[in-house]
Amino acid sequence: MSLPGAPWLARAGGELRLEGHSLAALAREFGTPLYVYSRQAMRAAARAYHQALQGRPHLVCYAMKANSSLAVLQTFAAEGCGFDIVSGGELQRVLAAGGDASRVVFSGVGKTRAEMEQALAAGVHCFNVESEGELDRLNEVALALGRRAPVSLRVNPDVDAGTHPYISTGLKGNKFGIAHDRALAAYRHAAALPGLQVQGIDSHIGSQITQIEPFIDALDRLLDLVEAVEAAGIPIHHVDIGGGLGITYTDEQPPRADELVARVLQRLDARGHGGRQLLLEPGRSMVGNAGVLLTEVLYLKPGEAKNFCIVDAAMNDLMRPAMYEAWMAIEPCTPRDAAATTWDVVGPVCESGDWLGRERALAVAPGDVLAVLSAGAYGLAMASNYNTRPRAAEVMVDGDAVHLIRQREKVATLFADERLI
Ligand code: LLP
Repeated sequence: MSLPGAPWLARAGGELRLEGHSLAALAREFGTPLYVYSRQAMRAAARAYHQALQGRPHLVCYAMKANSSLAVLQTFAAEGCGFDIVSGGELQRVLAAGGDASRVVFSGVGKTRAEMEQALAAGVHCFNVESEGELDRLNEVALALGRRAPVSLRVNPDVDAGTHPYISTGLKGNKFGIAHDRALAAYRHAAALPGLQVQGIDSHIGSQITQIEPFIDALDRLLDLVEAVEAAGIPIHHVDIGGGLGITYTDEQPPRADELVARVLQRLDARGHGGRQLLLEPGRSMVGNAGVLLTEVLYLKPGEAKNFCIVDAAMNDLMRPAMYEAWMAIEPCTPRDAAATTWDVVGPVCESGDWLGRERALAVAPGDVLAVLSAGAYGLAMASNYNTRPRAAEVMVDGDAVHLIRQREKVATLFADERLI
């Protein structure tokens, strides 16, 4: 087997391998639950965007919320990527990983004063501003520091990305962005504020998008505004179309990054905006298919209504199934020559919502290691310590090398900041 978009994951001699490394062996060496990533897969994802954009002014800002582990950021920084951040904490991570603040865009609806000060001091490329109130706040903060803050307005283009309601962000009913019909007035306001410097325009319409059309619709809406804003005498340097490109979890067939980029560039050219700097904020498509979550089968519990396969990873390690009913493939690392039974794969957390996969046909026994595929994005980054469960360890394979990039969290650190009365 090999997942489309994940050629680094393959079976050889029955064993599931990532870049040739046996996943069952890595589970034995480092313990479970364990995230394992392919560095080559991450590099290839970054290069696909960069190659498609070659010769064009551009910046690929990896949306680090998808996976913000330092070694992942380091990998993308070395590939020439910038970063899309949504908190002061993420900015600190970028700097700790050797990333360049001048390639950072700062998104999010609720930036605090302290975060604005921190980002101004670091010298970020741009603030993606999401409301009129934020424009005024940022202006004040910048003036107090004797600076001008570079800004782009995140516009809500009101297009349907055709994705899960929890991860769709470009519709009128969403909390994100400035309404399209208010955007021109907001640009006039921004241009009049002495602490701000208008730089660009941006949108982000949702996540796990499997069609090109919603991106082109959103781009058209942005370009309409660019033309109106520039006609009002306010120059716009860059256009940022956000992230959102989907990956294959089961049978989705999203466009490849180069296909999406080619269509976007075509549209920019066709509308006479070819020379403009293009920014992208891909998250999932950079890391999703580069990683797996390994978990050991603890118990099999067949029942009248359901059969449960109880594993040592839980919703706190991988939230996507519990939170979005997301379907993620689950494969045994070393297959057994036995008939498959239908199992609900569940974790040890005390919640009925704690499941990783439902009704999966698997031939398994206690002690076997299972791999949850396509877990590189929004996996460990969304993990919690619910039930006082330490977060998983992370390994990055890179050719022959195997790097432990995050130690398994220790229980003592979980309550180190707590105090008895
Ligand atoms: N830019 C902005 C402003 C965003 O809000 C996001 C994701 C991205 C870029 C990156 O989008 P991507 O390329 O990864 O689709 N936890 C959910 C996904 C939430 C996405 C939030 N925003 C999941 O596991 O499906």
